[in-house]
Amino acid sequence: MQSSGTSRLHVGIIMDGNGRWAAARGLPRYAGHRAGAGAVRRAIEAAPGLGIATLTLFAFSSDNWRRPRDEVRALFGLLRRYLRSEVAQLAETGVRLSIIGRRDRLPDGLAAEIARAEGLTAGGRRLHVRVALDYSARDQILRAVAAAPRDAALTAETLSRLLDGGGPGADVDLLIRTSGEQRLSDFLLWECAYAELHFTPRLWPDFGQADLALAMQDFHGRQRRFGGLSPAGTAGDAATPARAAAG
Ligand code: IPE
Ligand code: IPE
Ligand code: MG
Repeated sequence: MQSSGTSRLHVGIIMDGNGRWAAARGLPRYAGHRAGAGAVRRAIEAAPGLGIATLTLFAFSSDNWRRPRDEVRALFGLLRRYLRSEVAQLAETGVRLSIIGRRDRLPDGLAAEIARAEGLTAGGRRLHVRVALDYSARDQILRAVAAAPRDAALTAETLSRLLDGGGPGADVDLLIRTSGEQRLSDFLLWECAYAELHFTPRLWPDFGQADLALAMQDFHGRQRRFGGLSPAGTAGDAATPARAAAG
């Protein structure tokens, strides 16, 4: 099932609903997070065949530090295990893995394991998987502004490049959120300026390849205008603010 899609899209996913999935089965929340790791595997497997070049997965928000210590510990434990068990397979299948978000507050040793996984998969060209960890879009934007050169006017391009993992291809084409919630929860605020939004009631641990394919089908049925009138963007004789204002 490897019909390498012609489009090179960036899809972001807010993987939500692990706790509710577990509660519905009378299991601890941790069991939902563990099951969620399976859904991550399925999404990574399906993505290249659906024309996805970059997949950004929201795994832990900076606000998730508010959760009970045991749950946070379990989440990072799962991530550590995921890195150890999957990295070889990712490298073999041409998947590049990187982490966006803060690295200075992670549990001991995790930042080093992340750097190792990033190094081992750096050559991957089939799919770029970015995992957002201790991530806050507002925090990222504030840091980018603080890091901007003082001697030149700050432009959107400069700021885009200064964001973690910024630069070409950072703009999100499609944002998916599972579990029926319809909010951004501080995820990729800048990069989602023109993202198409797809909300599904499916809880993340149940999210499968068919769900991703359905989201892509939904996306391909949308007409993106970027403020213009034609789906392709701007028409041939597009106005500029000055010309339009002059009448
Ligand atoms: C998403 O599932 C995973 C993380 C936020 C880490 P939740 O843990 O938010 O699940 P619900 O929303 O409580 O069901
Ligand atoms: C957003 O989900 C963060 C992740 C999916 C990692 P939350 O479950 O934390 O978001 P809220 O609190 O419902 O907005
Ligand atoms: Mg949630």
